[in-house]
Amino acid sequence: MSSSSSSHYYLAYKCLIFIFLAIYFLPSHAAVKNYQFDIEVKNVSRLCHAKPIVTVNGMYPGPTIYAREGDRVMINVTNHAQYNMSIHWHGLKQYRNGWADGPAYITQCPIQTGNSYTYDFNVTGQRGTLWWHAHISWLRATVYGAIVIMPKEGTPYPFPQPHMEANIILGEWWNGDVETIVKQGDQLGIPPNMSDAHTINGKPGPLFPCSEKHTYALEVEQGKTYLLRIINAALNDELFIGIAGHTMTVVEIDAVYVKPFTTKTILIAPGQTTNVLVRADQIPNRYFMATRTFMDVPIPVDNKTATAIFQYKGIPNSVIPSFPQLPAPNDTLFALSYNRKLRSLNTPQFPAKVPLKVDRKLFFTIGLGANPCATCLNGTRFTASLNNITFVMPKTALLQAHYFNMSGVFHADFPDKPPTAFNYTGAPLTANLRTSLTTRPRLSKIAFNSTVELVLQDTNLLSVESHPFHLHGYNFFVVGTGVGNFDTLRDPAKFNLIDPPERNTVGVPTGGWTAIRFRADNPGVWFMHCHLELHTGWGLKVAFEVENGPGPEYSILPPPKDLPPC
Ligand code: C2O
Repeated sequence: MSSSSSSHYYLAYKCLIFIFLAIYFLPSHAAVKNYQFDIEVKNVSRLCHAKPIVTVNGMYPGPTIYAREGDRVMINVTNHAQYNMSIHWHGLKQYRNGWADGPAYITQCPIQTGNSYTYDFNVTGQRGTLWWHAHISWLRATVYGAIVIMPKEGTPYPFPQPHMEANIILGEWWNGDVETIVKQGDQLGIPPNMSDAHTINGKPGPLFPCSEKHTYALEVEQGKTYLLRIINAALNDELFIGIAGHTMTVVEIDAVYVKPFTTKTILIAPGQTTNVLVRADQIPNRYFMATRTFMDVPIPVDNKTATAIFQYKGIPNSVIPSFPQLPAPNDTLFALSYNRKLRSLNTPQFPAKVPLKVDRKLFFTIGLGANPCATCLNGTRFTASLNNITFVMPKTALLQAHYFNMSGVFHADFPDKPPTAFNYTGAPLTANLRTSLTTRPRLSKIAFNSTVELVLQDTNLLSVESHPFHLHGYNFFVVGTGVGNFDTLRDPAKFNLIDPPERNTVGVPTGGWTAIRFRADNPGVWFMHCHLELHTGWGLKVAFEVENGPGPEYSILPPPKDLPPC
């Protein structure tokens, strides 16, 4: 009897030691972060207009998601609005887990009014600034927010620790109801009305009517350094941003560290993020932070300037701030030289794993066009295509169709190159290259773990224009870019395969090309599209069907039980 009780003690003692050891050796950073997102309609006023907008938890911009590298994040989204909803976690890789990616009808059916869905994902191998936004219709106009991923506990930034951090989210504001404006544009076959303001953290700043009190101010202390997490959540505008009298040091783009460089102006395309360090090293004063469109095509430029204030502590609000000098709205040279400065950090701790051997070469042409339309304003409807294919939206989510082997939802026959080669960036081509007329979306099928090189070539169909392309499910390396037609013989020799920028959204220059490489190690159906909402809506999009790898560890996870039905 006594021996059995002593063995109990011994067991309990062993258990305790085991628990202590387990706690000690458990990765201290692993945690579950829970969020509740209530999609609600709220009255918000800007520019002397009040209107109901769709929000998350009544906030505009929405709440910031904070996580640490290694965390599991669970976000329960409950839809109380009259619109169908889905949310995308832009830049999160979602390894084997497209179920949590969010684009409506690509990886999930939308969350209908009154329903909920929990986005459940791990944050693996990523740290930095990303963002989330609605991924259905144009609802992301008001439904967006920041994602801040801190490095693992005890891992410092590879740059001086800032005194403080702040999110700077650039957006657009319409005085009217955005969904109505988009519907009108669609019916008439023309672009919907331009936004009425640009915004910084939801606020346009004092250069717009009734906006004095809708101005974001960041209070700073002289001599201290600040980390600004800049996000371009605008729907249709590439933006410059600068702070009067101050320089910025770029340290990260799209949640990947870069070799630091200083600049007076940042250029950022919709979908992209840029982290900069700013030292408050000027005479204490009030300085404008200003953002304005970059557009180097002679079409009506959206030339509105949103401002915020970089305000030194103790300076009264009555002081009129000085204004930064931004490049001219059509400064192509600035854009090209700025983008050339972006290089991966590429250290042993943060290596740039650029695929050196390519298994699959893709060449996609970007085209705008006008199709005949009897009921439209000009007798034509604007359209857009990749390799002459205007993507058709399905009625069933593609990931489900892929996972459950449903036939009749899509074709996996998207061509690796355009049907005919032509002088892509030569004289303007007004003739409509007849876009293919399928009723089902066409996907590009990719073998698991193959290395892909994709050249995105802008064309002068209707007009050249710069297009920020975003790939879901992956980061890619931007190995090359240039103006004019991609030269298969000469250009690859100039690729940067050492420290190219690694990102999830890249601008294809106006009348030029961009080459990206990635390893297709993430099975699933992954959307790729122009992040100008206008062009996405016109069909400038495609999806990759990446096959499963060998065995369940390299295959898509089973779908969650609460996945919304169509
Ligand atoms: Cu930020 Cu498919 O989008």
